[in-house]
Amino acid sequence: MIELRDLHKSFGDKNVLRGIDLTIPNGETMCIIGKSGCGKSVLLKHIVRLLEPDTGSVWVDGINIATLGHDDLFEKRRSIGFVFQGAALFDSMTVYENVIIGLYEHGEKDLKILDGEARRVLAAVGLLPDISENGTPLFEKEYQNLRAKKPSDLSGGMRKRVGVARALVGSPTYVFYDEPTTGLDPVTSEQIDNLIADLASKLNVTSLVITHDMFSVFKIADRVAMLEAGIVRFEGTAEELQATTNPSVVEFLERYV
Ligand SMILES: Nc1ncnc2c1ncn2[C@@H]1O[C@H](COP(=O)(O)OP(=O)(O)OP(=O)(O)O)[C@@H](O)[C@H]1O
Ligand SMILES: [Mg+2]
Repeated sequence: MIELRDLHKSFGDKNVLRGIDLTIPNGETMCIIGKSGCGKSVLLKHIVRLLEPDTGSVWVDGINIATLGHDDLFEKRRSIGFVFQGAALFDSMTVYENVIIGLYEHGEKDLKILDGEARRVLAAVGLLPDISENGTPLFEKEYQNLRAKKPSDLSGGMRKRVGVARALVGSPTYVFYDEPTTGLDPVTSEQIDNLIADLASKLNVTSLVITHDMFSVFKIADRVAMLEAGIVRFEGTAEELQATTNPSVVEFLERYV
């Protein structure tokens, strides 16, 4: 479970978060919506302590992450996969290197383990046929072909999938997606939505999805939180979101969606 308690964060005189309270229970998919620049990415970065709050606290699995030392924080971060806004792949690296870099940098140098994990996550995101028998030669050519590709050889949808595959390395409990469908055509967006929903149910990951895309919200969200003026202005199911008469929400849905 993730809990944000009265989170405040300013940059200079810009008060971005002004008392965020939010709980994400395990097993849930929560979508976070809100206008551009309202602090959605900033909020997400607090949960992995890429940013530290001015006041307030972030609790992951009952632990206040501000209290963790370097090693424990690193360990805690391994339970969270992060799909960054815009996929953020390294252009000069191959698909394989992009996927396993975190594991490698964490000290795993056994090529067999790295290779096995790359196959597992690339299959999990649908870039390889889903095979249960390890190392079957049947799809060897497909795998070798894919693993050597560079991000520039891939379509936008495939790049997003590689970004998701990287987040799944090490079987995290939580996966955060920052705008996973932005910039994709509607069909590819729907495929990514299906992937997010599939991973949530098959791998039982708890998902936190920042999105502008209300189709995604209705497809994947168990709950929705809308940020406005630095607080959670609305929290509820997608149906409750649609039915609410809260003026801020109504305005947002009319003007921005
Ligand atoms: N490291 C930083 N230093 C200074 N200002 C920052 C920093 N990170 C974010 N901000 C500011 O905080 C505000 C919220 O940024 P954030 O990236 O969270 O917006 P967002 O809701 O994710 O927007 P978008 O939908 O466009 O991605 C913005 O005004 C941004 O300029
Ligand atoms: Mg953002």
